[in-house]
Amino acid sequence: MSSIDAALAAQNAVVALESLGLGGVYIGALRNNLAAVIDELQLSPLVFPVFGLCVGYADPDKPASVKPRLPQQVVLHQETYGHPVEQQLVEDYDQHISAFYREQGLTTPKWSEQPVERLRSIQTLNGREHISAVLKGQRFEQK
Ligand SMILES: Cc1cc2nc3c(=O)[nH]c(=O)nc-3n(C[C@H](O)[C@H](O)[C@H](O)COP(=O)(O)O)c2cc1C
Repeated sequence: MSSIDAALAAQNAVVALESLGLGGVYIGALRNNLAAVIDELQLSPLVFPVFGLCVGYADPDKPASVKPRLPQQVVLHQETYGHPVEQQLVEDYDQHISAFYREQGLTTPKWSEQPVERLRSIQTLNGREHISAVLKGQRFEQK
């Protein structure tokens, strides 16, 4: 619940800061080295970082493209969940986002397979295999 609350608060903060002409970037990557973040921020027991949020003014000399989003039919449902051609819409998005990443000079696995790719091995967990032990160190009891 506290993770959901943190995300809701951060999203409201981003809306507010964008209304002031600032920009924000969430940094979930800090969970790759949770122990270092806890140390740096001197977090008390029973506190853990969910993500970071960088705030600042965008550099006009480095314009960034807005990443294409999933079509609205895939993320917004009326009354009941699902869309009859959802799979096709996701496949179309896979093509669209791959083209975007290529334009940005990035090579990434197929978008819809990225979550599985991230869980493929210890190496692809990028340090997140330590999260459970770090939470224990923050005195979160796990059974
Ligand atoms: C929970 C969360 C964690 C994220 N973590 C990172 C991150 O670690 N590094 C990063 O470059 N972008 C991260 N992002 C993505 C960016 O903050 C941003 O949403 C994305 O680049 C899309 O930008 P755009 O809205 O300008 O298209 C994260 C986004 C979310 C919602």
